[in-house]
Amino acid sequence: MHNRQPIGVFDSGLGGLTVLKELVRELPQYDYLYLGDSARAPYGTKDFDTVYRYTLEAVRWLFDQGCPLVIVACNTASAKALRNIQQRDLPGIDPTRRVLGVIRPTTEVIGDHTDSGHVGILGTQGTVDSGSYAIEIAKFFPEVHVHQQACPAWVPLVESGDYLDPIKSEPLIRQCLEQLAAQSPLIDTILLACTHYPLLYPQIRAMLPTHIDLVTQGSIVADSLAAYLTRHPQMAERLSRSGELSFTTTGDPAVFGRAASQFWGASLKAQQVYL
Ligand code: DGL
Repeated sequence: MHNRQPIGVFDSGLGGLTVLKELVRELPQYDYLYLGDSARAPYGTKDFDTVYRYTLEAVRWLFDQGCPLVIVACNTASAKALRNIQQRDLPGIDPTRRVLGVIRPTTEVIGDHTDSGHVGILGTQGTVDSGSYAIEIAKFFPEVHVHQQACPAWVPLVESGDYLDPIKSEPLIRQCLEQLAAQSPLIDTILLACTHYPLLYPQIRAMLPTHIDLVTQGSIVADSLAAYLTRHPQMAERLSRSGELSFTTTGDPAVFGRAASQFWGASLKAQQVYL
């Protein structure tokens, strides 16, 4: 692993796989090292300092494995930790490396999806409370109204695997969608602003009226990374290109590997690591 210079992809658990899948689809030539901090998930209910500390540990670990570039594929960590890491920590750790998040690229384009000007944001309690989406969307689309709804049951649903059981998952999914819908009848675009939520996509889609545009972030982040690497050829040249994928987790590697394989549609093995 040490002679490779992969793109690091980090999430609190399984959710970042929904971003990684799109990165691999769009930029298959690069090597990727995925880290899911499943032992300490969920992040969405943890305070600012804890999420910051955990995210910094993960970024440092990915740097130690040789990653010149890390994608924080977690909205909660992007909301609570990214700015401090980029501005305060990175210059002291290694100013030539980069850490990018998922909120900025998403807010740059989400306003293009709505005709009514009303966008619903579904995220963790931490992401919703941070106000990051409302603040960032206002910069790019000041005319857009943002309606936010936290879905605290959804990440545990995914991490536990219970989302595969409709009897357990459907009431929890329906409840959040109804809470969001109650905020405004004008919402015509809903963003899944937590990287775990696309695993629930078929169930969410089936419960929504067909005129609602249900947006996931993976391909948005992949487009944004492709554009970033075109603008920064010196970074693109540093990245190794064997098309290799490695998966690591702080949790149980068998549990992670099973869930990841199910989502990926191929057998994946995960290695356990300690941050
Ligand atoms: N997947 C993460 C996100 O995008 C957070 C999940 C969690 O609560 O750990 O916000």
